[in-house]
Amino acid sequence: MFSFFKANKDDENINFELDKDNIPKHVAIIMDGNGRWAKNRNLPRTMGHKAGVETIRRVVKEADRLGIKYITLYAFSTENWKRPKDEVNALMKLLVQYLRQEVVGLHENRVVLRVLGDISALQEECRKEIDDAIELTKDNKGLVLNVAFNYGGRDEIVRAVKGIINDVEDGKIKKEDINQDLFSNYLYTKDSPDPDLIIRPSGEQRISNFLLWQCAYSEFWYSNVNWPDFKEEDLQRAIYEYQNRNRRFGGV
Ligand code: FPP
Repeated sequence: MFSFFKANKDDENINFELDKDNIPKHVAIIMDGNGRWAKNRNLPRTMGHKAGVETIRRVVKEADRLGIKYITLYAFSTENWKRPKDEVNALMKLLVQYLRQEVVGLHENRVVLRVLGDISALQEECRKEIDDAIELTKDNKGLVLNVAFNYGGRDEIVRAVKGIINDVEDGKIKKEDINQDLFSNYLYTKDSPDPDLIIRPSGEQRISNFLLWQCAYSEFWYSNVNWPDFKEEDLQRAIYEYQNRNRRFGGV
């Protein structure tokens, strides 16, 4: 058992006793509320994203410490291209900076970095940083950090369908071979288990095109704090509540 103590302004003092044998294997996070965090401080939205990167650093470290094996962060969706050009550019730049600054440390901590999404649409500088980080960390045996970037659940499913059709036409697989396991192998997440727990901060309660296939039996946990204010204790609390749920996977 891990023992944690939480005291913050929203809650009574709460003791978290986390069962280390029931830590979710895969936690996925919709990092929401950066813009509102910045607006509340009269700052440009991009400052909210910058502050959000600090949260990523803390949360990845805490996830590793708690024994989570896979963490997936929704950083840029296929719909985020609709944002003002400056904001899109800032998000690309933040990804490049994050990788440049963090990849050595992640590697030293045996983290495997993967990117979910269509990175071919990104600029050369961004693609190179991603490719280098993936290559450097690919044989590590520690926490898998999936960064969903230019990712959309519907887009991922359509790509999987096209991939399967191509492989049927090329004779690599037969139509009769198609089942749920095979389908999963055509998704960006083919090397990760389905998420056990999906966290969304900032008070919004929707899936926003995230891991649509994979979330079939995920537990959802919402919090009102904006992502830049999300703390290690919030992750602990999410896990605590997850551990007190009864997952039946359609059974009784
Ligand atoms: C949602 O908040 C957040 C995003 C669309 C971007 C998240 C990106 C980062 C935290 C940094 C870049 C990523 C990496 C991996 C370095 P919002 O802007 O929709 O907030 P709002 O709903 O309050 O406006």
